[in-house]
Amino acid sequence: MIVGIVGAGTMGAGIAQLCLQHGHEVLLHDVDEAAIARGRERVAQGLQRLMASGRLSDEEAGTALSLRLRDAYGLDALGAEADLVIEAALEDLELKRTIFRALDSAAGPDVLLATNTSALSVSAIAEGAARPERVLGMHFFNPAPVMALVEVVAAAATSRRAMDTAVSFVQGMGKTAVACRDAPGFIVNRVNRPFTLEALRMVEAGEASVEAIDRAIEAAGYPMGPFRLMDLVGIDINLAVARALYDAFDEAERFRPSIIQERMVAAARLGRKSGAGFYVYAEELDRSVGVVDLPEVTGSLPPEEIVARVELAIINEAYHAAGEDVADPPDIDLAMKLGANHPHGPFERAGQLGLRAVIDGRERLAGGPQAEARERFRVAPALWSMASL
Ligand SMILES: NC(=O)c1ccc[n+]([C@@H]2O[C@H](COP(=O)([O-])OP(=O)(O)OC[C@H]3O[C@@H](n4cnc5c(N)ncnc54)[C@H](O)[C@@H]3O)[C@@H](O)[C@H]2O)c1
Repeated sequence: MIVGIVGAGTMGAGIAQLCLQHGHEVLLHDVDEAAIARGRERVAQGLQRLMASGRLSDEEAGTALSLRLRDAYGLDALGAEADLVIEAALEDLELKRTIFRALDSAAGPDVLLATNTSALSVSAIAEGAARPERVLGMHFFNPAPVMALVEVVAAAATSRRAMDTAVSFVQGMGKTAVACRDAPGFIVNRVNRPFTLEALRMVEAGEASVEAIDRAIEAAGYPMGPFRLMDLVGIDINLAVARALYDAFDEAERFRPSIIQERMVAAARLGRKSGAGFYVYAEELDRSVGVVDLPEVTGSLPPEEIVARVELAIINEAYHAAGEDVADPPDIDLAMKLGANHPHGPFERAGQLGLRAVIDGRERLAGGPQAEARERFRVAPALWSMASL
């Protein structure tokens, strides 16, 4: 298959490498010619690693780079030649709309057009396309060659055929495809939002320290605590997704971004990439990186309470998502295990705890004196209906 990739940054290069590894031809396009060269370099490094570990022969890597990876200078040429286009340009609705309009008029009627957006509406991106039935979301996780999950997103007008073709393409590259509806954050970015937000709330309230929360969550089987994870992903990236979801959910209290993240980003304390975030990584910090004083820890939540707070919030969000038909519970479980590396899916965890205990736990938290807590810990309607069946 000839796969056109628009945007040769982190995700574009990762997806290009994955496609090449599986025998596809790749046309790589970016507005910035230097970005194409950097993207090529990243692909070469990725293939090199595979060769070093014996998973790819020298010959395969050689032909992948010299014969099957080509630069594409215009969207017209890309649309005209590719069988499938995956867009991984900047996360900006107007920009993506312009790209899709151009691709839609250049590409033949059977060419699939996919966006790798993290948190924008696929239907909104498809607006203006004459054939929106072939536009869908193909949400890869970073690093794309490594992460097992791809969310395949059906926008309002996406055809069944386009979804089936996209799922087969993704599976053909050894990935697990989970189909979902075009709702803000799809599955993982939405259902996993409380993993970081609930942890931040505990720090905001002085209920536990960053270190205590990370220790408790890691001891419960999660590969990385929420603060270490934010430092790895980038606090600015995490905040951008949090803001996008807060807007998309009409500023629902449970999605309100944390003031702590806002302060960290304002102080250019972005995590590993800036040398410091919640933890310090570099011996010497750039002078632009500021200090952020976190609230004093006045409480000491026991580890099991820390884990329960985070898990109950994730379970509750999973019920919201399932109740709104974003995806089926088994698919949400699968997506959370593969896309967020959780030791269990939220519905599996709810089954272990018992739905009554989940509801009681949320109600106890919602019962505090503040209206904000009542709003934040409110039990999802689908959770109530499941429990009363
Ligand atoms: N980084 C992640 O963890 C991650 C994960 C999943 C999805 N995404 C999504 O993937 C997309 C790309 O993210 P990224 O992290 O690779 O960004 P990035 O900044 O690394 O790369 C974006 C690239 O797009 C190029 N670009 C900008 N405007 C363009 C245009 N008009 N046409 C063609 N190329 C253009 C830029 O020059 C840059 O090379 C975003 O929509 C993002 O939300 C990112």
